[in-house]
Amino acid sequence: MFERIRSRLGRGSQQTGAAVAEGNIPRHVAIIMDGNGRWAKTRGLPRVAGHHSGMKTVKRITMAASELGVEYLTLYAFSTENWKRPKAEVEFLMKLPQEFLAIELDELIENNVQVRMMGYKEDLPDYTLDAVEQAVRRTAGNTGLVLNFALNYGSRKEMTDAVRMLCEDAAAGLIRPEEITEKHFEARLLSNGIPDPDLLIRTSGELRISNFMMWQLAYSELWFTDVYWPEFTEAHFHEAIGEYQRRTRRYGGL
Ligand code: FPP
Repeated sequence: MFERIRSRLGRGSQQTGAAVAEGNIPRHVAIIMDGNGRWAKTRGLPRVAGHHSGMKTVKRITMAASELGVEYLTLYAFSTENWKRPKAEVEFLMKLPQEFLAIELDELIENNVQVRMMGYKEDLPDYTLDAVEQAVRRTAGNTGLVLNFALNYGSRKEMTDAVRMLCEDAAAGLIRPEEITEKHFEARLLSNGIPDPDLLIRTSGELRISNFMMWQLAYSELWFTDVYWPEFTEAHFHEAIGEYQRRTRRYGGL
């Protein structure tokens, strides 16, 4: 499989020097898919055209991750702060999951992909939530890549909610404050049951975390690229994985 990936990289791989080695594939890759708006602007297109094009990148990278044997791919599709954008852009972004799943769900199922969602369901329009929940239901039995959409997700809210839940449990006498461990906290995060990301990718040249999985990224390897998300290809993804494989993770040790 790895030879196949190398040969498919072709000219791009020579340009980027990307080569994925066998073994040591990150279990969990998280991506901040940034630069859709700027990509559109450079082409004289409306911002939403960038989001639409970004949807096609979602498909490409999902397949690439699945093929490499990545177990979890978490994509930051909409943050709790993105509601501040103009109404028309928010509406467009809310329709993308529905459009994406209408086009791609059958192929995701054929590829054994399991769709999940990490975020606050209550504020989502019915058409968004229905599409995502139907995909989650239809793919629940799949055992391949977990495609985890961070949709209406925000790390500060996630952590504040976890603290509140622990306080409520303590007030109800279910746990004593001195007994609280990291495990208790993690169990109350939206990511409960999913391992921490091994690798975080952010596109578009921005060097920020933007309220994304701040607890879970504590020991993740970070990889940034100037490439805008709509232009992010399998070759770029392989380049990120290749660099991840060359790094030494010490988790604070020696
Ligand atoms: C950030 O780029 C991107 C987003 C807020 C939305 C990301 C959504 C997608 C890539 C499509 C998701 C597809 C599915 C299937 C859910 P930006 O708009 O902030 O770009 P800019 O910084 O250049 O303005």
